Amino acid sequence: MTFHVLISDPLSEEGIYPLRQADDINIVMETNLSEAELAQRIDGFDALLVRSQTQVTRELIEKASNLKIIGRAGVGVDNIDLEAATEHGIIVVNAPDGNTNSAAEHTMAMLMGMARKIPQAYNSLKQGKWDRKAYVGVELKNKTLGVVGFGRIGQEVAARAKGQRMNIIAYDPFLTAEKAEKLGVDFGTVEDVLKAADFVTVHTPLLKETKHLINAEAFKVMKDGVQIINCARGGIIDESALYDAVKSGKVAGAALDVFEQEPMVDFRLLELPEIIATPHLGASTFEAQESVAVDVSQDVVSFVKHGTVRNS
Ligand code: NAD
Ligand code: MLT
Repeated sequence: MTFHVLISDPLSEEGIYPLRQADDINIVMETNLSEAELAQRIDGFDALLVRSQTQVTRELIEKASNLKIIGRAGVGVDNIDLEAATEHGIIVVNAPDGNTNSAAEHTMAMLMGMARKIPQAYNSLKQGKWDRKAYVGVELKNKTLGVVGFGRIGQEVAARAKGQRMNIIAYDPFLTAEKAEKLGVDFGTVEDVLKAADFVTVHTPLLKETKHLINAEAFKVMKDGVQIINCARGGIIDESALYDAVKSGKVAGAALDVFEQEPMVDFRLLELPEIIATPHLGASTFEAQESVAVDVSQDVVSFVKHGTVRNS
C-alpha cells in the first residue's frame, strides 16, 4: 500500500533522499499553502513534514483522518499541537540535534555583530557615509555571557564564547554543580544569571513557563547597558518590554533571529538602531537543512518499514 507524505515547508532535496529511495512512498511537496488550503489538502496523507512555518493546529489534525506521523525538520515543536496529535494517536518526531551547530554559530555571529555594530556600520557605509565615531563597540573578552537554557545549543554557544575569553554563567533546571564544573561554567538561578551578565542569550524551548521569561521585571534585574540575544524562539523575550528597555537605555543592544509573530508583521522593534535582526536564519545552512531533513525522512521510512521511529 502506498504511504502518502505531504511536505508543506521547504525541505532540503538531498535531505529527503531516504524518502525518494523508499518503495511505496509517494511524496507531495506543496510549500505555499495557506492554512485554509492546507486544511483542505491534508486528508488522505499518512505523514506531514514541516519546518517552523506550517502551524499544525488541532483543527488541521482533526481534518487529517489518515495522518499517522508528523515530522518536524528542526528542534522546536511549538508549531504543532502535541496534545491534539497525541489524542489522535499521531506520532510527532523532530530532529533534535541536526541544526545545533548552525544555531550556535548563528548565535555567535549575532553576538559579535551586535557587540561591534557591524550591521549598523555596514548600512551607514552603504549609504555613502564614512562614520567611524558612531560605531564604537565593546570587546567580548572578560565579559560575562549569561546563558538561559543550557541544552544542546546553549552548551555549544558557551563553548564557543569561552574561545572568545568570555566568562559563562548558565541557568537550566537540569544543570547540576557537577556538570557545570565539568563544562567550566558558573551556574545559578535565572536571577543570578541576569544580574551577572553583560550579555544574555536565551536557548530554552517556548513553553508556558518560558513565555516572556525575559520581561520588564527581568530587565530591571539586569546590568545597565546589557545586551540580549534571542536565537531560540520568539516569545521568550517580551518584545514590548524589550522595546521599552532599549528606549530607556537599560538595554544597549539586542540581536534577534526569532519573533513573537512570524513572518514578522510589526517592524517597530527594528526602528531602534540598537536592535539587529535576521529572519529566523539560525538553522539556515545547507548542512543543517540536509541533516534535519534526513533525520525526519529516515523516521518516516522506519515507521513505514518497521512501525517504529528513532526518537519515539
Ligand atoms: P534543548 O532541548 O537541547 O535545550 C533546551 C534547554 O532548555 C533544556 O536543557 C531545558 O532543560 C532548558 N529549559 C527548559 N525550560 C527552561 C526554563 N524554564 N528555564 C531555563 N531553561 C529551561 O534544545 P536546543 O536544541 O538547545 O534548542 C533551544 C532552542 O533553540 C529551542 O527553542 C529551539 O526551537 C531553538 N532553535 C532555534 C533555531 C533557529 O533557527 N533560530 C534553530 C535551532 C533551535
Ligand atoms: C528549530 O527549532 O529547529 C528552528 O526553528 C529551526 C528551523 O526550523 O528553522
